[in-house]
Amino acid sequence: MTASLTNIPKNGNYSTKTWVIGTSSHYLPHCQSTNDLAAEKAREACPEGLVVHTDHQTAGRGQRGTQWQAAPGENLTLSIVLRPTFLAPREQFKLSVSMALGVRDALQDCLPNHQVHIKWPNDILIDLKKAAGLLIENNLSGGKIAWSIIGIGVNVNQQHFDEVAAFAFPPVSLAQCAGGPLALEAVMQKLLEHLDARYLRLRAGHYPSLLQDYYQHLLGYQQECRWLIVADDREVWGTVKGVDENGRLKLLIDQDLCHFDLKELRLLSV
Ligand code: BTN
Repeated sequence: MTASLTNIPKNGNYSTKTWVIGTSSHYLPHCQSTNDLAAEKAREACPEGLVVHTDHQTAGRGQRGTQWQAAPGENLTLSIVLRPTFLAPREQFKLSVSMALGVRDALQDCLPNHQVHIKWPNDILIDLKKAAGLLIENNLSGGKIAWSIIGIGVNVNQQHFDEVAAFAFPPVSLAQCAGGPLALEAVMQKLLEHLDARYLRLRAGHYPSLLQDYYQHLLGYQQECRWLIVADDREVWGTVKGVDENGRLKLLIDQDLCHFDLKELRLLSV
């Protein structure tokens, strides 16, 4: 089997060497949400690895029901169709771990002199500011994950973000960190190659080593941090001990090991 060379950008001026992710692509100048479009393609039985990308997303969706805003033509907004039928539905978090690592690797590759962390479960921070996010949507059928949509937004060249004073980890772009603009195509190429490498490791059964890498880059791992427990609006000190098999965060608070879902917890500071 040989890696495929696919021209991803609309102007086709570079090639990506990958085995699965990016072996086919679909570009639209604008659309509402690439995740929705990719889901349509998945339902129509598109090949695994299809990348749906756009320059202008008009109704981008984020985690926890938020909106994802990205200035047109300055950022990467894309969704990848995967068919991880080798995972049981209860193993969904393994895909999240692998994809977060792939995005982190790509950003670190672009900015080797900066600190790139994963904020549980899959926000990507550069020097403690949010540079990328993932929205993964799984479709379960017949006791299997029939398909997954890996939605990724990367702030590449955007210089101004809406006022977000209340955010503990404000947005930032790669260009702001690098001190100058980056070629979107080059960032896309690194992104697809790193995601592909991580996906292949997952598919080959190497999840334990992926999880080790995830912990290595996980913000606050084995470190006491300040958290907000959403249900009772209480601030606590807690130490991240890992994630459980359902992807919940294991936090040691006053000698008690507590497990939290995404909506139950906010990281306030490290
Ligand atoms: C988050 O951090 O809240 C997740 C953001 C995910 C945004 C991407 S942009 C491409 C894809 N399409 C969407 O509607 N959302 C994801």
